[in-house]
Amino acid sequence: MKQPKEIRKPEGKLGILLPGLGAVSTTTIAGTMLARKGLGAPIGSLTQMGTIRLGKRTDNRSPMIKDFLPLATLDQLTFGAWDLFPDNAYEAAKHAEVLEHRHIDAVREELELIRPMRAVFYPEYVRRLHGTHVKTGSSKADMVEQLRADIRGFIRDQGVSRAVAVWCGSTEVYIEPTDVHQSIDAFEAGLLASHPAISNSQMYAWACMKEGVPFANGAPNLTVDFPAAWDLSKKLEVPIAGKDFKTGQTLMKTVIAPGLKARMLGIAGWFSTNILGNRDGEVLDDPDSFKSKEVSKLGVLEYILQPHVYKELYGKIFHKVRIEYYPPRGDAKEGWDNIDLVGWLGYPMQMKINFLCRDSILAAPIVLDLALLMDVAHRAGFSGTQEWLSFYWKSPMTAPTLYPEHDLFIQSMKLKNTMRWMMGEDLITHLGNEYYD
Ligand SMILES: NC(=O)c1ccc[n+]([C@@H]2O[C@H](COP(=O)([O-])OP(=O)(O)OC[C@H]3O[C@@H](n4cnc5c(N)ncnc54)[C@H](O)[C@@H]3O)[C@@H](O)[C@H]2O)c1
Repeated sequence: MKQPKEIRKPEGKLGILLPGLGAVSTTTIAGTMLARKGLGAPIGSLTQMGTIRLGKRTDNRSPMIKDFLPLATLDQLTFGAWDLFPDNAYEAAKHAEVLEHRHIDAVREELELIRPMRAVFYPEYVRRLHGTHVKTGSSKADMVEQLRADIRGFIRDQGVSRAVAVWCGSTEVYIEPTDVHQSIDAFEAGLLASHPAISNSQMYAWACMKEGVPFANGAPNLTVDFPAAWDLSKKLEVPIAGKDFKTGQTLMKTVIAPGLKARMLGIAGWFSTNILGNRDGEVLDDPDSFKSKEVSKLGVLEYILQPHVYKELYGKIFHKVRIEYYPPRGDAKEGWDNIDLVGWLGYPMQMKINFLCRDSILAAPIVLDLALLMDVAHRAGFSGTQEWLSFYWKSPMTAPTLYPEHDLFIQSMKLKNTMRWMMGEDLITHLGNEYYD
């Protein structure tokens, strides 16, 4: 990435396109509408509530991030979506049962105007869902063209000056990159041949990139994380990012594990289990969709703890992650972690974490932040994988030669230093020697 000389101003409206109009999308949309009416606070959103320190600690310069970066304002946002169910955003929000009626009804009219476009949906990638609001096409290449026409139509009809997309669709079955994923030509040939390794979400990502729409992937699917997609995003100068929103249990893991490691406390085992009962939980009840999630969740400790470097402390760690579909809880997930620690002279200790969280309440601010930051990245001339947004991901995309950085505090420093660098401010090292000279 080159340091931007100038960042284009956020003029006109910004369209936020959401493939998947389920719990996360509707909570994001309704929350944004409520926040701009002053009927709710966008808690959890760094772009809306966070500050950034600039210069020396004695300078007392800590503007709000939204005043420091040239971000689109909430009033400038317009939402669009695709789904395989025809429910508008009001009906979908009611079905999701995340927000209370007092919240949904306060923005009912605006929500009802958001009607999903027909989905590209080959059911073999999400086997638990059966919807009717879907496109028909002669090939996967034809499906991409139809999605491109949707995007152009949305931009024209809504009068937005530009758009970004955040995948909020279901988790797809686990797919490894194959030959079709290795180059732009191979992928386009694969689209024409309707290759089985090209999933629904990959078609959305391809269509967005072709239309110059930055694409962030909230699910653990392959979607936009393979060589052909990296190449296309560079060639067309579109930012891409992913994958899998870092919300509940994994967010806590990337807070606690770096802390234990910083103090050189050993870990013998880490067992994590969850119960959840929303549609996401139902989809994850399919072992092949769960496999995508499991891979995404398991990588975290391996990279943070570096067992190959700290053999004595973490070399034998037993890490297990379970997700159980349990309908009575709906979106109100409950996560349990049991950590078996090892201290001085090898004495064992235990830590238990019981997190009664709300999945979509934690995910919505991430969707908003990603949309605004992907848009500013595009206006700054950034393209390809946006690793500085690792902060938001369970399984951050990186350059192929790099390992992902999972530690939330390193991710936060990287995010804020990138913001400073974008705006020509000094980077902060936290050395602090100068105050004692
Ligand atoms: N909420 C969280 O904390 C969290 C964290 C990390 C990742 N995620 C991921 O975010 C995604 C959304 O989660 P959710 O709770 O809103 O799920 P959800 O089931 O409520 O919504 C997903 C929506 O996507 C639609 N969909 C599926 N395939 C589609 C396609 N091909 N085209 C258009 N629409 C499609 C479904 O019909 C559904 O309405 C999931 O993949 C989930 O794993 C959520």
